Amino acid sequence: MSTPRKIILDCDPGHDDAVAILLAHGNPQIELLAVTTVVGNQTLEKVTDNALAVGTIAGITGVPFAAGCARPLVRNIETAPQVHGDSGMDGPAQPKPRIELDERHAVDLIIETIMSHEPGEITLVPTGALTNIALAVRREPRIVERVREVVLMGGGYHTGNWSAVAEFNIKIDPEAAHIVFNENWPVVMVGLDLTHQALATKDVVRRIEQIGTGPAKFVRELMDFFAQAYHDHQGFDAPPVHDPCAVAYVIDPTVVRTLRAPVSVELRGELTLGMTVADFRAPASADCHTSVAVDLDHERFWDLVVDALERIGEVELTA
Ligand code: BDR
Ligand code: CA
Repeated sequence: MSTPRKIILDCDPGHDDAVAILLAHGNPQIELLAVTTVVGNQTLEKVTDNALAVGTIAGITGVPFAAGCARPLVRNIETAPQVHGDSGMDGPAQPKPRIELDERHAVDLIIETIMSHEPGEITLVPTGALTNIALAVRREPRIVERVREVVLMGGGYHTGNWSAVAEFNIKIDPEAAHIVFNENWPVVMVGLDLTHQALATKDVVRRIEQIGTGPAKFVRELMDFFAQAYHDHQGFDAPPVHDPCAVAYVIDPTVVRTLRAPVSVELRGELTLGMTVADFRAPASADCHTSVAVDLDHERFWDLVVDALERIGEVELTA
């Protein structure tokens, strides 16, 4: 087994963010250095409470959790209650958090963590809007050369979900996305083209249910709510579980096929605001630092999630 990859997970839980946290915690190839939160699926307060609840359910200890930006860089707040409910993580009951929120702002924690590690050690995994990451890079530009890669869930080169052509995480803070895609660090865009293949089918949900532990039951209940929301609002037969796809790519890049292509974020279009425009017209030049996720190995992806839940096992929640 190779050395675990050190990651900072910047998220807005969120049903699929919750699965991303559980996968990162339960997989031995990942060392989770910090969990940071950003406004998105719900207000900052709600997604931060949710992150602490997920950390508690997963039995995470010794990992700082910090809250970040409460609004996008330029735009007004846009949340997604139609997909994630009023709490941002509707469905399962949430335990009283056993994790205390770190006092640092997420942007400071991200910068401190990156600067105190060797160059090339840390991978950033944003699964929400890119507000915290954009601010971190403006505040401390030296993080660009120290980060190994940015593997983000967001965007899509072929479809949208928050408009005809824009994906939610990018659309709610396109200026932040523009900053992150334009810095000269390796960026892997794990967008809707890929995550719409990560469907929690009935078979998948059955496998999760059969694990029979508290954390697995929690995921099962998350999937029940998520399935209904995606069915009612986007006509899906099974919900696409976006965010853990980015973590899966870090664990094992052969689970996700990628293509190198320049990506630009649309900041002005009346109909296309927040679109991630990937240019496939010619082979990517040697200095192209962005790639896009194309194909998912559905079975191996869900094997990773199931394996992580099995490794987490039962977590004692009573005081
Ligand atoms: C993304 O938007 C959020 O609602 C999900 O958590 C995911 O990160 C999918 O468009
Ligand atoms: Ca998310």
